[in-house]
Amino acid sequence: MKSIFAAGMLVTMALSGTALAQDYPTKPITVVVPFSAGGPTDTVARLVAEAMSQDLGQQVVVQNVGGAGGTLGAGQVATAPNDGYTLLLHHIGMSTAPTLYRSLPYDPLTDFSTIGLITSVPMTLVARKDFEPNTMAELLDYVKANGENITYAHAGIGSASQLCGMLFMEAVDTPMTTVPYQGSGPAMTDIIGGQVDLICDQTTNTTSQILAGEVKAYGVTSSTRLPTLPELPTTREGGLSLEIGVWHGLYAPAGTDPAIIARLEASLQKALTNESVTTRFAELGTYPVTAAEATPEALTQTLTSQIELWRAVIEAAGVYAD
Ligand code: MLT
Repeated sequence: MKSIFAAGMLVTMALSGTALAQDYPTKPITVVVPFSAGGPTDTVARLVAEAMSQDLGQQVVVQNVGGAGGTLGAGQVATAPNDGYTLLLHHIGMSTAPTLYRSLPYDPLTDFSTIGLITSVPMTLVARKDFEPNTMAELLDYVKANGENITYAHAGIGSASQLCGMLFMEAVDTPMTTVPYQGSGPAMTDIIGGQVDLICDQTTNTTSQILAGEVKAYGVTSSTRLPTLPELPTTREGGLSLEIGVWHGLYAPAGTDPAIIARLEASLQKALTNESVTTRFAELGTYPVTAAEATPEALTQTLTSQIELWRAVIEAAGVYAD
């Protein structure tokens, strides 16, 4: 009798799981952004979340959980229920944290289910508008001459702004005084206010400020100039070998029902063709990935290869968070 009962239970559980996935979502979904509101990751997340909510028929709510370069928010999702109602939208920091934090409380590869890539955003070196250097060449000379008298803002060890700053300081072989924030949203406020000198931040957080003349821009880390900022040279044109694309992905906790992952993958792919997303991304100097890249397989492949790539770079730089 027991085996039939047990079998019956297993069938019931399987059906309930399948039934849950079939009806998913039946309540609002939370997308954790591991940086402050108003920054580049938040900007990407809110555009994608709004488009996904239109497709899913449920609110997709962005929750900002800043701190420790994005690792606090990521760690929160790693241990969240794997019911499909808590997701993580994070960027290149998912691949740098495992090397930067030797006591990272999660494993990006085993504690998450990947859903898909979203976009890859170029970065720009920008300063407060009265900062003395006017060109990249002048900036390089100025940094070499003034080093730690210059304040460099970033969003914590593990953030894209910190990664870019680390690479920049390596390239000029000169340390600056770094100033951490919970996100590059508040950092940009201080750049515009003149409280801090320099930041390397994503075009999703610098394009309008550059066009409005609120900051002084020196270069963009893309291989070619951006149609949104045609006057801004690339870092390479300015004599600086520093090219970075800040890729973003969407994740669920490990063990999430594959049927729910598939539903979220389909919704993400649809969101990335939504005109509100494609238009705003273009205005901010970026574009959505293709449907073939907005897949669990593509995100897993990117995450895996990027962890190895940045491990070598970070170990060579000898920069660690702990
Ligand atoms: C943010 O959203 O605040 C940025 O992505 C932080 C960073 O990675 O520099």
